[in-house]
Amino acid sequence: MNSSSTHTILVVKSVYERVTEIFESLSDLDCIPVSADEQVLSNKIKAADPVAVVLDVDRYMDRLYEAMTDQMLIARFGVGCDGIDFNKASSNNLIVTNTPGVLEATVAEFTVFLAGEVLRMPGLSSNDLKQGHWTTHMGRELHGKTWAILGLGGIGRKVSQILSFGFNVKVHATKKDITDKEQIKHRYGVELLSTAFENVAPKADIISLHMPANKQTHHFMDRKRLQQLKPGAILINTARGALVDEEALYDLLKSGHIAAAGLDVFEKEPYQPIDKKKDLRELPNVFMTPHIASSATECMRRMAQRVVQNIRLFIRGEHHKMDIVEK
Ligand code: 8YV
Repeated sequence: MNSSSTHTILVVKSVYERVTEIFESLSDLDCIPVSADEQVLSNKIKAADPVAVVLDVDRYMDRLYEAMTDQMLIARFGVGCDGIDFNKASSNNLIVTNTPGVLEATVAEFTVFLAGEVLRMPGLSSNDLKQGHWTTHMGRELHGKTWAILGLGGIGRKVSQILSFGFNVKVHATKKDITDKEQIKHRYGVELLSTAFENVAPKADIISLHMPANKQTHHFMDRKRLQQLKPGAILINTARGALVDEEALYDLLKSGHIAAAGLDVFEKEPYQPIDKKKDLRELPNVFMTPHIASSATECMRRMAQRVVQNIRLFIRGEHHKMDIVEK
């Protein structure tokens, strides 16, 4: 590890550019913006000998881990670590941290805002008006609907609270392990809690996804499960694109079985259709945003501060206080 009092940190540009003022204000850390490309980043690591590398959502297959030593930290700017290969990280004795507890409310409120656009279309109406069209897009209410939250972690719980206590929505939810059912129902306003998709999703008017992306959840919303949704259901995804089979989603949106979708995340980012003939951008009942659910200034600052805190703890060897991700 660099023994001077200023430590070098490599920060991928997509992160650096969103919170430049924080990364530039640190006297103990010399933060350098770098390309997220695995090869370029790996070369830079070897040349700069940083104490930490701050990563965004991009996927890292192998070179990154080989370029790093156990005196360096992988600090994820965000919670989802599906871009990290934990087998390779641990075989190179690398510690990985993330930023829990600072973005859940931000992503949760965006999930509801996105559903608001799907249901009532204020953004679409604003664009129409600016283009000279005084038209009415007839919407649907949120109030009184049944909403299935698939994955009741930190974000799912916040979504549940907002919907249940704020909008009088009936919240049904799935959770992998259910230990404290009554407390969860009471605290988060969940009316029906189950481990099984079949008990929750097919009855819902709106379904939102909040599961991590991994081998078990890849294409969790496959054609079969999408077909099991109630005709006219709405799907919201602010978690990960890999959770949904986009080709099957296209077909079901086109047929109208699924009335509409609000998507902030995609199998390929920036969005590209998996099959060019099934381009979600061509469907009028799809509302798409470029992975911005946590992109609020306050949230980005909290995430940056959390990343910096983890790096400083790593430098001091206070591993027990860090947000270490174990896989
Ligand atoms: C991004 C996210 O990390 O936390 C996650 O897993 O997907 C997002 O919050 C964020 O946009 C930073 O790029």
